[in-house]
Amino acid sequence: MNCRHNDELEHFVTEAKKVTVKGKVASYIPALAEQSGDDLSVAVYYTDGTCLSAGDVKEVFTLQSISKVLALALVLMEHGPEKVFHFVGKEPTGDPFNSIIKLETVNPGKPLNPMINAGALVVTSMMKGSTSSERIGRLLEFVRALANNRSISVCKKVAESEFQTSMVNRAMCYYMKEHGIFQAEVEDVMDLYTKQCAIEMNSLDLAKIGCVFALNGKHPETGEQLIPKDIARICKTFMVTCGMYNASGEFAIKIGIPAKSGVSGGIMGLVPYSFGIGIFGPALDEKGNSIAGIRLLELLSENYSLSIF
Ligand code: DON
Repeated sequence: MNCRHNDELEHFVTEAKKVTVKGKVASYIPALAEQSGDDLSVAVYYTDGTCLSAGDVKEVFTLQSISKVLALALVLMEHGPEKVFHFVGKEPTGDPFNSIIKLETVNPGKPLNPMINAGALVVTSMMKGSTSSERIGRLLEFVRALANNRSISVCKKVAESEFQTSMVNRAMCYYMKEHGIFQAEVEDVMDLYTKQCAIEMNSLDLAKIGCVFALNGKHPETGEQLIPKDIARICKTFMVTCGMYNASGEFAIKIGIPAKSGVSGGIMGLVPYSFGIGIFGPALDEKGNSIAGIRLLELLSENYSLSIF
């Protein structure tokens, strides 16, 4: 893809990078700890197919929680909203992304929304396919179509690293299974979920996927309606209310665009009908969001009046 380096964007990247010293690369998934904390790149993909970038936008990273929006879109397409929201709620939590607490205190077993780990695990458990490899294959095909890039695949090292370590996610699965929220085998769900989180791409791919959401599910290059408009709308709404976890309210006030973060340091954002943004900055703040990525979005939002509110 032809994406032009842009000096103005580079200026904002240089400015935003200053805060990386205050952040930390995620280490609870051992393979992520190897990422370099002072990286920052951004790509902006416009609905007319033009693209601007700054930083090393060819560097690949895993989607982690950004995959939650994409898995949700697919599962909503497979089952319809009524069935999906029978098993997962629509409300923000105000708790960290991996918190277990509200699973017990509110509607036992039913997670509050699909952007927190518990809710995403339920969504993943609903993915259609008769075998694990068929299910990850379907998701990969969907993600490749969204990015219009056939080479996107799963980083086996990161998937394996998370599979070996995520005991709290397993605990949440067993708790929800006890409450009948899903019937699937926990290890199968964990296998699929860790592979889903380890789907690897660069910020250009991510910006293009953001642009599909900016166009209500229509691909800017192929013109294909990849996600029905209503489902794209649901996904974007979750990005606003829960996309940055327990920082979503502040993010909505300061920046004001639908966005989704991941612990690898990626952020996918979009401005409706205008462009998608893909950011990669692995140093995280205390809430698990890219610290320089958020600073960069703040600068862009202030300078170009991006808030949708
Ligand atoms: O389940 C996990 O903990 C990770 N695979 C994803 C978490 C994540 O990206 C949270 N985002 N900031």
